[in-house]
Amino acid sequence: MAQELKSVEYGLEKIFQGAQDFLPLLGTDYVEFYVGNAKQAAHYYKTAFGFQSLAYAGLETGMKDHVSYVLKQDKIRLVLTTALNSNSPIGEHVKKHGDGVKVIALWVEDARKAYEETTKRGAKSYMEPTVEKDEHGEVVRAGIYTYGETIHMFVERKNYKGTFLPGFQEWKSDYNPTPVGLKYIDHMVGNVGWGEMNTWVKWYEDVMGFVNFLSFDDKQIHTEYSALMSKVMSNGNGRIKFPINEPAEGKKKSQIEEYLDFYEGPGCQHIAVATDNIIETVKQLRARGVEFLSAPPHQYYLDVPARLGEHMSMMKEDINELEKLAILVDADEEGYLLQIFTKPVEDRPTLFYEIIQRMGAQGFGAGNFKALFESIEREQELRGTL
Ligand code: FE2
Repeated sequence: MAQELKSVEYGLEKIFQGAQDFLPLLGTDYVEFYVGNAKQAAHYYKTAFGFQSLAYAGLETGMKDHVSYVLKQDKIRLVLTTALNSNSPIGEHVKKHGDGVKVIALWVEDARKAYEETTKRGAKSYMEPTVEKDEHGEVVRAGIYTYGETIHMFVERKNYKGTFLPGFQEWKSDYNPTPVGLKYIDHMVGNVGWGEMNTWVKWYEDVMGFVNFLSFDDKQIHTEYSALMSKVMSNGNGRIKFPINEPAEGKKKSQIEEYLDFYEGPGCQHIAVATDNIIETVKQLRARGVEFLSAPPHQYYLDVPARLGEHMSMMKEDINELEKLAILVDADEEGYLLQIFTKPVEDRPTLFYEIIQRMGAQGFGAGNFKALFESIEREQELRGTL
């Protein structure tokens, strides 16, 4: 499978040349989830994933209709939000989708310009540029819809010195489990409906100025039973990468279709977070109860040296240890990468996490797709959704 991908042309230079600069993005600002019980979800992310308490907004801070807990680990900020009454759009979102990602917020220099440039290119408005102020300064935010009910919020915080956003107070907690080494968001993947992938590829190109960085068709991503297609979109500096998946016809139901059924529409499928020591990070996560997909067969690990080829000499990790932890290995022209996927982190089989350590490789573990999807299919079989 790794060989087949050689035909796919890519390279960071190509991204820089192809992308347009009308929407300069500094990075991911935060990811906001709408959930059924933010207090308990926050406890899970602290205990299991090592996130730290950062900020809070709720009844105590003057917020009447919802509550939000903000968690941080290195550059990653998660916001967990729950409605406080039955006639809230937050509650409606949770009723339809279950717990899931509502906002993928992007850090920009100028939120008004980001809003203007994207809406004039066809983006549907979610929130017009809005100035929020407190004693620490001001933040400008503006939002547009992407796939499904998911939002991109542009966040301009150059005139703000507070903990998170105006309206939030610092959240000091006596319960502070140690971090597990998660550094930043590497990529976030969206699942869209049948025949919609190219529509959203074009939307990211036209509206956001992104370029298509890598493509995988159903001939490359398939198992005996199911298939999917994926295209990776990137912004101009390569900091923001959004792969977009679409189900493809197979003998049985693909994991993308299962997601669409249970999320009741398109949405964020997984968040990939980077670490620079995946062995330690995964040991910690396992010890704290995070559940991962099962390991591929032993033969997979016997084949690692052949798959890594020239990159094998720079590999520091012990293959036996990787196998024990079920960490996957893949390589491309520029290096190798290590990755592992959690099981869904809520009861509906929807959102999950990827832990990734890049050792030069810029790809997404395409050589692992088959092993990975077979593992997912074993889980689907148990759920009766294959
Ligand atoms: Fe991924």
